[in-house]
Amino acid sequence: MSLSWPPWMAACRQVTKNAPRFWIDMDVALAAADCPDYDKVMEQHKRNATCGELRKSDSGKTVTLNGWVNRKRDHGGITFINLRDRYGITQAVIGEDASEELASLAEELRNEFCIAVEGVVRPRPDTMVNPEMDTGEIEVAVQSLVILNRCEVLPFQIEEETGANEDLRLRYRYLDLRSAGMQNRIRLRSEVSFAVREWMTGRGFYEIETPTFIKSTPEGARDYLVPSRVYPGKFYALPQSPQLYKQLLMASGFDKYFQIARCYRDEDARGDRQPEFTQIDIEMSFVSRDDVLSMTELLMGHVFRKTLGVELPAQFKRLSYDEAMEIYGTDKPDLRFDLPLKDFAPYVEGGSFQAFKDALSGGGSVKALIVPGKSDYSRKQIEELETHAKIYKAKGLAWMKVGPGPALEGGVSKFFTGGESSSAGTIIAGLGAKTGDLILIIADEKRKTANTALGAVRTKLGKDLGLTGESAGNADGPGGRRHSRFEFVWIVDFPLFEYNEEDRRWEAAHHMFSYPQEQYHAVMEQDPGAVKGDLYDLVLNGCELASGSIRIHDPALQKRIFSIVGMGEQEAEEKFGFLTEAFKYGAPPHGGIAPGLDRLVMLMAGESSIKEVIAFPKNSFAVSPMDNCPGEVEQKQLEELHLAVVKPKP
Ligand code: AMO
Ligand code: AMP
Repeated sequence: MSLSWPPWMAACRQVTKNAPRFWIDMDVALAAADCPDYDKVMEQHKRNATCGELRKSDSGKTVTLNGWVNRKRDHGGITFINLRDRYGITQAVIGEDASEELASLAEELRNEFCIAVEGVVRPRPDTMVNPEMDTGEIEVAVQSLVILNRCEVLPFQIEEETGANEDLRLRYRYLDLRSAGMQNRIRLRSEVSFAVREWMTGRGFYEIETPTFIKSTPEGARDYLVPSRVYPGKFYALPQSPQLYKQLLMASGFDKYFQIARCYRDEDARGDRQPEFTQIDIEMSFVSRDDVLSMTELLMGHVFRKTLGVELPAQFKRLSYDEAMEIYGTDKPDLRFDLPLKDFAPYVEGGSFQAFKDALSGGGSVKALIVPGKSDYSRKQIEELETHAKIYKAKGLAWMKVGPGPALEGGVSKFFTGGESSSAGTIIAGLGAKTGDLILIIADEKRKTANTALGAVRTKLGKDLGLTGESAGNADGPGGRRHSRFEFVWIVDFPLFEYNEEDRRWEAAHHMFSYPQEQYHAVMEQDPGAVKGDLYDLVLNGCELASGSIRIHDPALQKRIFSIVGMGEQEAEEKFGFLTEAFKYGAPPHGGIAPGLDRLVMLMAGESSIKEVIAFPKNSFAVSPMDNCPGEVEQKQLEELHLAVVKPKP
């Protein structure tokens, strides 16, 4: 591929050539000040090939390359320069026969100098061919060299993946972004965004922007606020998502909407969370839940095929929320490995372990996890798992090992020697365990705690034992991209409400606009905890990738939801009156979903932090070390905004 100026730039350049007085003066001034006129320099030394494209068949061509010195080696009078741009690396060679001027320029070169070289493509001698490089069959014999810009001593070396600490990487993000790893991931992100737009637009979705200055409406996290200069004491909020606007677009008759939308949430950062992030926000009218799910499957299918060359199953597995909690102890199960939780309750009665009996008589459950072949786990290893389980409120982690026979050994096995119903044989056969397995058990009066804590142990074991397939070596994807296995699963039929123990009130498990399933409409107020909503999450490799729901479009039903979560009529009217009002004017039935773009690209790239796929992310303290943001502002600015800063007491 050869590069030429885009038409608008060519037009500007033409104007400069027929320069009015001002431009000529500038030329004169530049010359007088001994400044190189970079426009002229670029005109002469503009690349006509990239550093990734030259092959043996190009031998004999005279080319100009622009890029950065990735590495320079001197071998007895011959200088090898690995010249890099975003397309690849090409070896440029300055031979012993170089002019004095060229040799002295070459001498000056250091890593990350930005240069232009002109020379002739020639095949490398057979012994020098580098099969690791796309351009490894050739090199460019340099005839001229121009230093476009020098580079100071680097804070870290630009390597495939730098080992520099994160704050240093973020402080010099523009350098970090030069690494092959970051370049590949940002390219992948761009390709994913394009594939999304391509597919959605091709299916008749309109891409519609919604405001980023909105009314502060609680949606789960804290809002970022923007003070109004014109209206003292009033604030805009940055949207946590375009949720209400996309519903209003449905009321406006737009039918199928999408947006690659920036969202802002003031919450603690984690590996898969940033204060600002991007959603592929989608809403559709006249649809059922299955329409939204299959649309999302087709979209994901297109994106993975187009960007990674990976074929996904036509339909993803589905689990109800209750099934996911019972089998995997989480609503984000990683299905790259199985390890299901099993019910230990049938063996409790006949045994004599009191903690298990108490859990059952208290209305809870006893769950077991069989870890194949891990009866050699040491006490210390089991204790580590127990500590992990306790983070999730488990009271303990009981264990037994399956020895030869098979027989139960160690741990709580001594409590299971009784009658037929709790004999070692019955337990081993009932749980499907084998000699050499480790059995881990958690009992709790709260069913959810037993499931969640053992589910957390399952997730930890998946990572520790390399069951996710990641440590077993990733397949090479197109373009040298690494990718792991992709196990998608839909979690459906979520509870609509969650009890907030601290505030002693019911709140929306997702958001307040999701449709309660029909069979609960009559009894919602009596037993909010039992109500299931038409809510769905898409989970990929144990990470919540997307959330969505069929929405309420009936103003009366919406008011009932506000009331169950303890929002008075007046408050509801103030906060969401504009939405319930819109519902009164013939709003259509509608539903939607929002996959997180950052998480999607992170998982596609086989990374565990979304910072790896965001050009300029914040660090874990919501700070950008590069530009020192957030920063202080001038007193005058505060005054204009009618604000005074109250510093927190130390
Ligand atoms: P939800 O709040 O579940 O739903 O968000 C949808 C998806 O957005 C991504 N996501 C994030 N990514 C990075 N950093 C964050 N802080 C962050 N928070 C969320 C996740 C998540 O699955 N309006 C609804 C969607 C709908 O109902 O249509 C919503 O925002 O991938
Ligand atoms: P204890 O009898 O309390 O010393 O506990 C004996 C073993 O049972 C320890 O390994 C505890 O971790 C475990 N244990 C205690 N309570 C529970 C429970 N509710 N669920 C699972 N294991 C438990």
